[in-house]
Amino acid sequence: MKILVINGPNLHLLGIREPDIYGRETYKDVCLKIKTHAENAGVEVEIFQSNHEGAIVDKIGESYGVFDGIVINPAAYTHTSIAILDALKAVSIPAVEVHISDVNEREEFRRVSYAGMACVHSIVGHGTDGYLEAIDYLKETLK
Ligand code: DQA
Repeated sequence: MKILVINGPNLHLLGIREPDIYGRETYKDVCLKIKTHAENAGVEVEIFQSNHEGAIVDKIGESYGVFDGIVINPAAYTHTSIAILDALKAVSIPAVEVHISDVNEREEFRRVSYAGMACVHSIVGHGTDGYLEAIDYLKETLK
């Protein structure tokens, strides 16, 4: 089973970025944690990060026929990007949305998730463990 993990803008700054909200683990730490977890679960994983909406749309399009599942944290694009929503719908690969923070307990504008409308499941506010839970969820539901 092949899973693509997509991270949107500013997530490469984890560890530096608003640690009270996102924690002190660096992006490198999180990638290593995801890779180790996937390996132990017998899942092949690729991790992609971009600050650019179009690059994320391109990556989703290219994942058709390549990946069995997608874990996506579109970051700020969650709340704005119909292009990412449409890309997820277009490829129709089961996708799980992850947010490190509890977006429902923050500013009002973070409560709308366009990408979430194309996802089979959402994991919100579980910190970076949410990525691992999303991989487990896909592994369970895709087998
Ligand atoms: C985030 C929440 C978004 O609202 C924010 O723009 C992010 C990160 C999260 O993981 O909690 O960049 O997706």
